[in-house]
Amino acid sequence: MAILMWTRQLENGLERMDATHREFVEHYNLVADALKGGDRDAFLGAYDAFVAHTEAHFAQENRWMEAVDFPACHRGEHERVLAVLRDIRKRVANGDMFLARRLVEELPMWFDGHTNGMDAALAFHLQSVGYDVETGTFKPKAEGEGCGESSGGCACATLTATPEAAAHG
Ligand SMILES: [Fe+2]
Ligand SMILES: [Fe+2]
Repeated sequence: MAILMWTRQLENGLERMDATHREFVEHYNLVADALKGGDRDAFLGAYDAFVAHTEAHFAQENRWMEAVDFPACHRGEHERVLAVLRDIRKRVANGDMFLARRLVEELPMWFDGHTNGMDAALAFHLQSVGYDVETGTFKPKAEGEGCGESSGGCACATLTATPEAAAHG
């Protein structure tokens, strides 16, 4: 039985990101099912596939963040989570399932928070600076539209009463 369900509430409106997140949900459910099945080798098979997918998932977002100078805290969170996943892999291989069970319990909540927090902010930023994740390029903008390509997570608002404005006025 699936513990984590894909719902529209998890969508961030960025197709490639949402597709990767749907795959995350599928992988997670295979891991949760394998845990219930109680066979350690079957669990490790599902777990390794989940970790490999999560590495690619995070690397994809990290590349997008680099392209648009996004704040580093999101990348740091990815690294922390991967460190936990790798540590748990070692424990399971040594016969210790305790943290694996905790992880399977906690991941749905973590995923919901991460997807609706850091990932939603990234999706919004990529779209607001016109970065096309499919081509890795910035869409040409109309004159005066949007803020700079490297605004780094700012809210697109800035003062216009600058010395340069005074010099021209
Ligand atoms: Fe994500
Ligand atoms: Fe993320």
